Amino acid sequence: MQRSSPRRARALARSADPYDLYERSVQDPPRDVAFVDRWFRRYRGRTPLHLREDFCGTAALCAAWVRSDGRRTAEGIDLCPEALAAGRRRHLEPLPASARARVRLVAGDVRTVHRRAVDVTCALNFSYCALHERRDLVRYFRRVRRGLADDGIFVLDVLGGRDAMIDNEERHDHGAFVYVWEQTSFDPLTHRMKAAIHFEFPDGSRIHRAFAYDWRLWTVPELCDALVDAGFARVHRLWERTGRDGEFTGSLYEPKGAVSNEDLWWTYLIAEA
Ligand SMILES: C[S@@+](CC[C@H](N)C(=O)[O-])C[C@H]1O[C@@H](n2cnc3c(N)ncnc32)[C@H](O)[C@@H]1O
Repeated sequence: MQRSSPRRARALARSADPYDLYERSVQDPPRDVAFVDRWFRRYRGRTPLHLREDFCGTAALCAAWVRSDGRRTAEGIDLCPEALAAGRRRHLEPLPASARARVRLVAGDVRTVHRRAVDVTCALNFSYCALHERRDLVRYFRRVRRGLADDGIFVLDVLGGRDAMIDNEERHDHGAFVYVWEQTSFDPLTHRMKAAIHFEFPDGSRIHRAFAYDWRLWTVPELCDALVDAGFARVHRLWERTGRDGEFTGSLYEPKGAVSNEDLWWTYLIAEA
């Protein structure tokens, strides 16, 4: 994962595992497994068995996937050996041997790694935003499509809205630590944004820039066009329902027409091979 060099940390910050804090702050692998399962069944009418987690980091989704069904296999791909090693330690070693044997982690670039056919490929937490040029993005998407079964799907999430395009700081108190998401720059001409994750502790210590991001904030129409150019047959754009109070409910649907604009949103695209 894209770790930056943290400043000299003290006390609680020094003993904390940034990968553990990251996962507790931004990931929910069992929820992702249920999400993928539900939408795959809806579009394909069968149970998805083989999953690839691109930009897998610690491969938490791979582990949750093989745990969820004894027939399931998972392959995780990431450039960062440190994140993969943390994933082996945190998620693969605790698995029963029979489940561990169904996970393969590959250190490599998602644009070049040779792929076996899978039912589902996921690129979550906006990781493809690390690809800044359209030709790179299309090349990556083409590789994803070639690595899917004939009825395979590609699931990616998208971040957007006015508040994703400003310098901003969001804080979430998890009790033992505070998760801080800081957006430090956004260029409207290129949609390049810089952001970082920090963690703060009750003793005043902090892991500054535990993870840092240099992204291109791709828009939904740009992604849909790139997916079609890469050969995907159809792209479904999901959106999150809002409740009477106007707040997002966590429940996703595929809108038939326009949706109402929101200051900050996070949704999913599902592309059919
Ligand atoms: C935001 S983390 C995502 C971790 C996890 N999958 C999640 O959903 O939270 C992005 C990961 O992408 C990896 N990465 C960035 N560019 C990559 C590339 N071209 N090929 C493979 N991995 C890449 C980084 O090493 C990092 O671990």
